[in-house]
Amino acid sequence: MRLSGKTALVTGAGRGIGREIALAYAREGSRVALVARSADELGAVASEIEALGSQALALPGDVTDQDLAANALQRTQVELGPLDILVNNAGVFLERPVLETPLEEFDRVMDVNFRAPLRWMREAARGMIDRGQGLLLSISSQAGRRPYPGQGAYCASKHALMGLVRVLAWELREHGVRVSAISPGGVDTDLLAGAHEYADKSAYMQPEDIAEAAIYLATLPPRAAVDEIVIRRFAADPLP
Ligand SMILES: NC(=O)c1ccc[n+]([C@@H]2O[C@H](COP(=O)([O-])OP(=O)(O)OC[C@H]3O[C@@H](n4cnc5c(N)ncnc54)[C@H](OP(=O)(O)O)[C@@H]3O)[C@@H](O)[C@H]2O)c1
Repeated sequence: MRLSGKTALVTGAGRGIGREIALAYAREGSRVALVARSADELGAVASEIEALGSQALALPGDVTDQDLAANALQRTQVELGPLDILVNNAGVFLERPVLETPLEEFDRVMDVNFRAPLRWMREAARGMIDRGQGLLLSISSQAGRRPYPGQGAYCASKHALMGLVRVLAWELREHGVRVSAISPGGVDTDLLAGAHEYADKSAYMQPEDIAEAAIYLATLPPRAAVDEIVIRRFAADPLP
């Protein structure tokens, strides 16, 4: 098991990609703290992790809550041990033309997809810097790399997130802390349900495809670093 003795915290771990990453890390022996608003979904994932023989800690809450990051990280440290891996995965999607999107909606998407990862990374980085090691992993999106008409708020939030990830990768390297992102294309989860693009489900990736990349980033040899993994649907166009 490649992550035995490690402690990870995954936001948005109740379903979709976050759930699969949490389970994949647990299968590799990691203890996993789980954050999302739906306590019942977190409880179910925690039970699955315990059934795998690993330790889980469900921490229900909203990632945008000002106090949650500090409190959740403190509880994780006390109950599971010092944090080795933070996965900023919780996110929301919005499909609406820019001129038709109220500014309050922009703020909501920015709060969850950008400000929350900013706060959680700042909080988690302190302990990692003290220990001279750690991984801050963010689940971004293809929408953090290129424009998608009709997804202004989502694209802006993921571009902002990628800017932050890139700067932190420079700033934290000297402290031994890794900062990486996974930028997936369409994945078959609830996030895109109802979205225009979601018409042909069969062409979409599965959450476990993204979890594989999260395992890869968490198990790199110390001499190697990967800044971003871009994963597209095979049916989508290759990178320009
Ligand atoms: N699905 C895709 O095609 C796709 C593609 C590229 C990138 N991504 C990114 O991958 C990440 C996960 O997406 P997904 O597809 O797995 O979405 P999902 O199936 O909708 O799951 C989202 C998870 O995040 C949690 N969450 C949402 N808002 C939250 C908040 N304010 N506080 C705490 N938890 C919150 C949800 O739980 P609660 O609602 O219970 O809080 C849920 O557990 C997102 O960052 C998304 O942008 C997804």
